[in-house]
Amino acid sequence: MSIRHYANQDLLELVAYEPGKPIEETAREIGMDPADIVKLASNENSMGPSPKAIEALVASASGSHIYPDGASFDLRSLIAEKFDVEFKQTAVGSGSSELIELLCHALLRPGSELLAAKHSFSMYPIMSKLFGATYVEVANKPDWTHDLAAMRAAITPETRLIFITNPTNPLGTMVGQQEMDAFMSDLPEHVVVAFDEAYIDFADDKPNVLKYIKEGKNCVILRTFSKAYGLAGLRAGYAVSNIEIADMLNKARTPFNLNLMAQAACVAALQDQDHINKSIAMVKTGLAQYYAAFESMGIDYIPSHTNFLMAKVGKGKEVFQKALAQGVILRAMDSYQLPEYIRITVGNERENTRCIEVLRNVLGK
Ligand SMILES: Cc1ncc(COP(=O)(O)O)c(C=O)c1O
Repeated sequence: MSIRHYANQDLLELVAYEPGKPIEETAREIGMDPADIVKLASNENSMGPSPKAIEALVASASGSHIYPDGASFDLRSLIAEKFDVEFKQTAVGSGSSELIELLCHALLRPGSELLAAKHSFSMYPIMSKLFGATYVEVANKPDWTHDLAAMRAAITPETRLIFITNPTNPLGTMVGQQEMDAFMSDLPEHVVVAFDEAYIDFADDKPNVLKYIKEGKNCVILRTFSKAYGLAGLRAGYAVSNIEIADMLNKARTPFNLNLMAQAACVAALQDQDHINKSIAMVKTGLAQYYAAFESMGIDYIPSHTNFLMAKVGKGKEVFQKALAQGVILRAMDSYQLPEYIRITVGNERENTRCIEVLRNVLGK
């Protein structure tokens, strides 16, 4: 009998996470110099990391023979200060992906339900499946925002974890304060709400969800250094919650889950607001560039609160492949059940101009 027979059957049935196509792989496949390829597929920051973060990273590297601080004291202290919460209310992870997994460790059992909006981050159904839980997705409103009233109505006695992705990926839309307040007003005690705020730095008029944590509610804010902070390659994210939830996350993690260099770089990155402001400005300029181009081409798009946007191009997979052949890596959305769309990360002006040129070419516009 194969070992598969004895393995976790939920894992065997899993469709693994499909990341954006790497530059090197594309270069090999199409025979192009990697330097000529533009990757706008994974919502990274074209501006790169803060120079101060790189400096801190390099300075820390010579201490790599010693285990890092397992408690990530400096970084978590800084996060606690930024959010005006206690140190014990924080946790860090190897990307916010790890924190999503830790939440599932803490809360899901076979038969539990994980609730999320339709077309949201693909790690939620993957993790749900891995833990033998049932993934329940709720259709969005016609304006592509989460339908929080419908999500509230979908809570059952088995619901343990609810993801509100704000702004959401891949749609780029955001839920405002009023709807959030209504949703949070009388939640049953057996659910935890995770506000996945991977893209919150790019949004204006963001709802205040920290106040629910200060009120002691069962909720957690998840943030990442992969997007506005430009540190996707380093793998770092953090969580802020009430003490009980943070304690569960810290128990479930491996002892040194955030490496030495990541800890050092993230401390420096968190303090370099100037770099974040420049990144946000680049994205706002880039979004305007895409909106104008799509309007002139007569292509529908979803206005975005993030560093990416969705364009309705018809056969998304075909457009993705044709753009790829010309050295521009985008993201097809068929696995997100949106086959008519492609998702484009906003890059710098040169990258955006190249992407728009290629799309005009591919779409004959
Ligand atoms: C909504 C959302 N949450 C979480 C993540 C995970 O990011 P990371 O693991 O790089 O911190 C992503 C990455 O694309 C995302 O889009």
